[in-house]
Amino acid sequence: MSETAPAASPSAVPLIRCRGLERAYGTASARTVALAGVDLDVVKGERIAMVGPSGSGKSTLLHLIGAMDAPDKGGVVVAGRDLARFDDAAAARFRREEIGFVFQFFNLVPTLSSLDNVALPARLAGKGASEAQAAAQKLLDRVGLGNRAADFPDALSGGQQQRVAVARALVNEPQIVLADEPTGALDRRTGEEILALLGEVVRERGATLLMATHSDAAVSIATRLLSVEDGRITEDRALTPITAPIKEHA
Ligand SMILES: Nc1ncnc2c1ncn2[C@@H]1O[C@H](COP(=O)(O)OP(=O)(O)OP(=O)(O)O)[C@@H](O)[C@H]1O
Ligand SMILES: [Mg+2]
Repeated sequence: MSETAPAASPSAVPLIRCRGLERAYGTASARTVALAGVDLDVVKGERIAMVGPSGSGKSTLLHLIGAMDAPDKGGVVVAGRDLARFDDAAAARFRREEIGFVFQFFNLVPTLSSLDNVALPARLAGKGASEAQAAAQKLLDRVGLGNRAADFPDALSGGQQQRVAVARALVNEPQIVLADEPTGALDRRTGEEILALLGEVVRERGATLLMATHSDAAVSIATRLLSVEDGRITEDRALTPITAPIKEHA
């Protein structure tokens, strides 16, 4: 028994490997350090809740892992692929095919129905309309909105819009789901319902979740808790995940 044994099995090759990540914004005279040296290994199937004060670097880290931004120093390898080697087209394809994103303010396309919002990433990945819509309908059914497929975002509540966004994040069967404050715009109870749903659908699909959150409830669906402060990981703790689904209207 070693005090320093990693939480995950040593034989497990990490799905995500971050090394020496640094990212700063602004000019030399007005420089904001967002990440000050982050090392992180994430094994497939982990569900990580990242907590920390506003401005500590959580979103920046998610952006680097999702190839939406590039580090000043250090690197990210996902499924054996070094993101630094991607050109814009490869990065776009990686985001489309390997990553599902869930945002604080849902970011649905207001001129598309729920069904077409969920189908959109599948269409962009080259699927035909009927195949994409069939996949989208299945996911809308899964998130409890099968009967709202024709509705546009402005006809839906915030919680319903976030359910559509969760469905959209999963339509291309990504290995990784990145969620940035997914409950930040929702009331407490709705936020807890969304977290439970997110945890369940990610687990069902064997996907890996990284979530930045201010919600205490996030630990209930996470297998691991990271604290981020001043651009560094200051705490990394294994959690005991709840394996039974959380009841929606407890
Ligand atoms: N595009 C940008 N331009 C300039 N500064 C930025 C930019 N993005 C982030 N920063 C700065 O980098 C630091 C880290 O920001 P980040 O958004 O990663 O924090 P966060 O932990 O996600 O915060 P919050 O909990 O408020 O979402 C902050 O000081 C922020 O002001
Ligand atoms: Mg943030």
